[in-house]
Amino acid sequence: MSGKLIVFEGVEGSGKSTQLLRLQQWLAVHPIVQKLQACRVVPSVITTREPGGTELGKALRSLLLDNQSAALGAQAELLLYAADRAQHIEEVIVPAIEAGSWVLCDRFIDSTVAYQGYGRGLSLSLIEQLNAIATQGTSGHLTLWLQLDAEQGLARSHRRGQLDRLEQSGLTFHQQVQQGFETLAEQHPERIVPINATQSEERVAQQIQTVLEQRIKTWYGRYSQIY
Ligand SMILES: Nc1ncnc2c1ncn2[C@@H]1O[C@H](COP(=O)(O)OP(=O)(O)OP(=O)(O)O)[C@@H](O)[C@H]1O
Ligand SMILES: [Mg+2]
Repeated sequence: MSGKLIVFEGVEGSGKSTQLLRLQQWLAVHPIVQKLQACRVVPSVITTREPGGTELGKALRSLLLDNQSAALGAQAELLLYAADRAQHIEEVIVPAIEAGSWVLCDRFIDSTVAYQGYGRGLSLSLIEQLNAIATQGTSGHLTLWLQLDAEQGLARSHRRGQLDRLEQSGLTFHQQVQQGFETLAEQHPERIVPINATQSEERVAQQIQTVLEQRIKTWYGRYSQIY
């Protein structure tokens, strides 16, 4: 059975990295997941991110997020994200899914639509084509969209410390990005699950766990020896 790609999306500071780590820790001690792993149905649960999930991607990530790259143009930015994704898909995501593993990924195709499409105003159909080339048709099985106002997210990022190149873009840009995520969630209700990210870390984690409990039953319910 093929594995699963579980993606975390949302504006800056919405809690993606925090919740990805929490989900990884929760899955590691979940009895059903432990049984699926013991039977080698799900060999492993790995975590990764975009940009930066490969060696090439790490170099691209610093070009994309480093404040020194202020002169990076919108088209070049789009193509660097596409290059990062193409390498990530080929080297990390597809091999893991083919092995039956689960991949928890911090950002994926929706971020490009939201940031470069809605934020920068680049062609949505061009972005769709680039995403199709980079992913070779692999799409997320579940996307957890941490829904939080751009303003609240940026306030959290400010509290966290120094801001990267994208975080330094103005509030209007981030509001357009948020609008992008909202539109995507309306267009893909079967894949994108909105999570109320205004709540405490613990409450947000509980919402995500409830979604995962349901999905695990849907995905692996046929393994009756486990259930
Ligand atoms: N539910 C929450 N309530 C309040 N603060 C939170 C919550 N979740 C995370 N934080 C804090 O907000 C900051 C941003 O969280 P985190 O780094 O997980 O967000 P992110 O979505 O990964 O951000 P980025 O887009 O910059 O990668 C961190 O300092 C984190 O501790
Ligand atoms: Mg993060």
